Amino acid sequence: MSNISNRKDDHIQLALQDSHQASTRGGFDRLLFEHIALPQLALSDIDTECEFLGLPVAAPFLIGAMTGGCDNGEIINQHLAEAAEHSQIPMALGSQRAALEQGLQQNVRRWAPNAIILGNLGATQLQQSGLDLAERAIESVAANALIIHLNPLQELVQPNGDRDWNYVLEAIQTCANQLSVPVIVKEVGAGIGPNTARQLVDAGLQWIEIAGRGGTSWASIELARNSSSREQQIAAPFVNWGMDTADLLPLVRHACAEVNMIGSGAVRDGVDIAKCIRLGAQMTALAQPFLAPALESTQAVIEKIEILQEQLRWTMFLTGSQNLEALSSAPML
Ligand SMILES: Cc1cc2nc3c(=O)[nH]c(=O)nc-3n(C[C@H](O)[C@H](O)[C@H](O)COP(=O)(O)O)c2cc1C
Repeated sequence: MSNISNRKDDHIQLALQDSHQASTRGGFDRLLFEHIALPQLALSDIDTECEFLGLPVAAPFLIGAMTGGCDNGEIINQHLAEAAEHSQIPMALGSQRAALEQGLQQNVRRWAPNAIILGNLGATQLQQSGLDLAERAIESVAANALIIHLNPLQELVQPNGDRDWNYVLEAIQTCANQLSVPVIVKEVGAGIGPNTARQLVDAGLQWIEIAGRGGTSWASIELARNSSSREQQIAAPFVNWGMDTADLLPLVRHACAEVNMIGSGAVRDGVDIAKCIRLGAQMTALAQPFLAPALESTQAVIEKIEILQEQLRWTMFLTGSQNLEALSSAPML
C-alpha cells in the first residue's frame, strides 16, 4: 500500500471519531428560522428538486468529497456511488491523485453511470503540469465538474505536507479557463472567505464550496497523526483556526454577488441544509455524515439521503416554503 493510501485509511478512521469534530457547529445553531405556525401548505406539496450544473437533482445537497476510491476507499465509493445513482443526488470524489499516480482503475462510473460525479484534486498538485493532471482526473471518471481543494492549514499540520503555495491561483485560473467542464474550488473545513472568493471569481471561477469550520477538523486529525512533539506544540493554537460556514455564506455572497455557492462544513442535517439555502447557497455538501453509512452498505447511504431530504421537507413546511426559492427568503430571526 502506498503512503497516500495509508494516510487515507488513517483519515477515515479518525474522521469517524467525534473528538475530531470542531465545537462551533459551523455557526448553524446561532440561526433560527421563524416558526410558521400557519404553513398553509400540505407536506406533500413541498418540492425539494433543483438543478445543479444544468442537470436535475432530487434535493440541494451532495455527497461531499472523501475518497478517491483506491484500496479501502473502493468499497466506500461503491456504496456512495450506487446511492447517488439511486437517489439522484450528486457525488464528489475524494482526491484522485493516488489513483492517477499509480495508474489505478477508477470504477465510479460502473456504479453510477448517470449520476453527477465531481472529480477532485489538491490545488498544490496543479502547480506543475496541472492542466494535464486535471484533464486525466476528469476523463478517468467522465466527471461533470472538477473540484480543486485548498487545504493550507491541513498541509501545515500534516507530516511532510506541501508548504509551497506559490502560483496555485495561476494554476486554478488555467484550469478554470481551459478545461471542458466547470471547476469548483473548495476548502476542507477552515472555510473560503470573501477575499479568497473574490480572487477566485476574478480568476474565472463560477462555483465555490465554502467548507467552513465547525465539522470535520483536519488540523485535529493531522495533529493526531503527527508524532513530533515540536510540531504538536506549534500546531496546538491552530486546532480551532478557521471561519464558520454560517458566517461565511453571507460574507462571500456580499463580496461576490454572481458566484454560485455550495454551503458545506458542519452541515449535519436537513435543517442545516435549509439554513445554507436561506443564507444564499445554491447547493450544500455533507462529507463526514456519509462516512459511517458508506462503510456499512449502499442501503444505509440511501436511508441517510432519505432522512436528510425529509428533514429538509419538514423545515420547508415549518417555514411555509413550498419550494427552494421560497425557502431562500424564509423569515429568519
Ligand atoms: C474521510 C474524509 C476524507 C476527505 N478527503 C477529502 C479529499 O480527498 N478531498 C477533498 O476535497 N476533501 C476531502 N475531505 C473534506 C470534505 O470534503 C469536507 O470539506 C470536510 O470534511 C468538511 O465537511 P464535513 O464537516 O461535512 O465533514 C474529506 C473528508 C473526510 C471526512
